[in-house]
Amino acid sequence: MSESMLFSDVVRKRHSMRNFFPYPVKEEILHSVLEDAQLSPSNCNTQPWQTHIVSGSKKEALSKALLAADEAGQVTPDFSFSIDDFSGIYRERYKEQGAAYYQAIGVKRDDYDLRREASRRNLEFFGAPHVALLFMPEVGDNVRVAGDIGMYAQTLLLSLTAHGLGGVPQTALGCYSDTIREELGIDPSLKLLFGISFGYPDMNHPANQYRIKKALINESVTFHR
Ligand SMILES: Cc1cc2nc3c(=O)[nH]c(=O)nc-3n(C[C@H](O)[C@H](O)[C@H](O)COP(=O)(O)O)c2cc1C
Repeated sequence: MSESMLFSDVVRKRHSMRNFFPYPVKEEILHSVLEDAQLSPSNCNTQPWQTHIVSGSKKEALSKALLAADEAGQVTPDFSFSIDDFSGIYRERYKEQGAAYYQAIGVKRDDYDLRREASRRNLEFFGAPHVALLFMPEVGDNVRVAGDIGMYAQTLLLSLTAHGLGGVPQTALGCYSDTIREELGIDPSLKLLFGISFGYPDMNHPANQYRIKKALINESVTFHR
């Protein structure tokens, strides 16, 4: 098989995992994934990612703090995100994703209690043994740096897949940046874009079995010739 085929397989195999086995990833595998991610491109090679990996009892304590912050309504995002800002096709895709996920895990559209419970699984890292919290310095309007973090995140996600692991990016974690900084003793000058819970996914769990439809090339790309 050609190398490009192998790459294509990894890209197609990656999808967001939302249920994990609790056992941790071996140190050398974790390092291999992080070394891959370090090779990501960035504006002028600034490499602005500051990644905090949380595991074990620290991760359990962080989850408790996040659930308590959520209960108390202490939402402190460094960067705004409101789904209401999306309209048209982007909104339709968001709705389709939500409906597909809740259907997969057997939660009815109007069952708000179960939907809230499912949403709070974000704050339990979906049972993953590790979470990578992607922090960045504040630079200008932050758009370029955030783009670099996106590059890093995708390399990390693809490397996880190539190593037989899985992950899920989570803006939901970015909603509690003050709690996370306090729990981990992180300087307020570092801003949290999002987190990635990762580990060995339980592929028999319905949350990991559905695949969301992606748009065709002609919906996203315009050729000028
Ligand atoms: C930056 C970013 C933030 C995301 N935040 C969340 C989140 O908070 N919770 C969640 O369950 N999924 C989250 N997702 C996962 C998306 O729902 C998912 O990527 C999308 O539906 C496409 O599915 P796929 O990753 O399986 O291809 C996020 C994805 C990205 C790229």
